[in-house]
Amino acid sequence: MAFVEWRPEFSVGVLEIDAQHQRLLDIINQLHDAMKMGSKPAMLAQVVNELVGYTRYHFAYEEKLMEAANYRELEEHRRKHRAMVAQVEGFRDLETSGQATVSLKLMAFLKEWLSRHILETDQRYAGCVAGVKA
Ligand SMILES: [Fe+2]
Repeated sequence: MAFVEWRPEFSVGVLEIDAQHQRLLDIINQLHDAMKMGSKPAMLAQVVNELVGYTRYHFAYEEKLMEAANYRELEEHRRKHRAMVAQVEGFRDLETSGQATVSLKLMAFLKEWLSRHILETDQRYAGCVAGVKA
């Protein structure tokens, strides 16, 4: 069983966003597997970098969609995205400089943050962006 599984209630009703969320879950699972296998720091760093890159891409896509839909809570949502990117990038920098390593604590944080963000914050825009093109 994967560390974090897709759940039907994660769906925001937009195929592209659902696919991007699934990709994020995949990367988190990949990182968890790499950690469990005791992969080398360089390998872990590569997956963390992929997570940072894809998270930025996904958040930008979501924000573009919310903008196109004139979503009222865009700024608050954007703040949450920025805070998350800062946290993951902060970790990446510590890891790159050998001051931190991928841990169960980090994995639990990523799983918890993404699940809650999708279920609570992303679901709020679901009705507003339906049928809108990013
Ligand atoms: Fe979001």
